[in-house]
Amino acid sequence: MAPSKGPSSTPPNWNAERGSIGLPVLAMGLIAALLLGSIAAFVVLRPTGPGQSGAVRTSGEALVGGSFSMVDHTGSEVTDGTYSGRLMVVYFGFTYCPDVCPTQLLVLSEALDRLGEDAEQIAPLFVTVDPERDTPEALAQYVSNFHPNIVGLTGSPEQLRTMADAYYVSYYKVQDEAASDYLMDHTSIVYVMDRSGTYLTHFTHATSAEEMAGKLKDLL
Ligand code: NI
Repeated sequence: MAPSKGPSSTPPNWNAERGSIGLPVLAMGLIAALLLGSIAAFVVLRPTGPGQSGAVRTSGEALVGGSFSMVDHTGSEVTDGTYSGRLMVVYFGFTYCPDVCPTQLLVLSEALDRLGEDAEQIAPLFVTVDPERDTPEALAQYVSNFHPNIVGLTGSPEQLRTMADAYYVSYYKVQDEAASDYLMDHTSIVYVMDRSGTYLTHFTHATSAEEMAGKLKDLL
């Protein structure tokens, strides 16, 4: 049986199971789809009113990021200004993260490796969403597992809140029932900011190291 090739194809046996009502139901489905399509088109094409997404779209991406004041993994106080002149690659996570964060940091590390000397023009920042456990010392040990340029950032809960809000990053504690430790649920997006801290683009877990390196090189 051939696998279905697209969203519009009917699952294999559908007509057989439904027998003669197959066609009328299919027709009704089509009409419903057309109606929904018209509604969707109407919503999308509507002129932008107050609070509509179109109003945000023109400047929304530029709103990602902003000034921050944190402490790096060497214990130095840093701000966004510390990294101006370099592209900032900003990723929020925590050192106790079992898989997502380390995987993302490995991909970032490989991308930086691929950039060679050009990596010096990039400030890769790993911002902890778990400052309670991720002290500068804990971060120093953690980032040593990855590319040497990666900087760990921590701070007071208020400092973290300010920076995370600027990047639209959410995070919260999740109690792991199997262990006494807690985990953090957090947004996992790799932001790329230009040399003055303005949003350029972002990567997700789906971005390969090769693709990341290529895009970063283009942005240098
Ligand atoms: Ni994580």
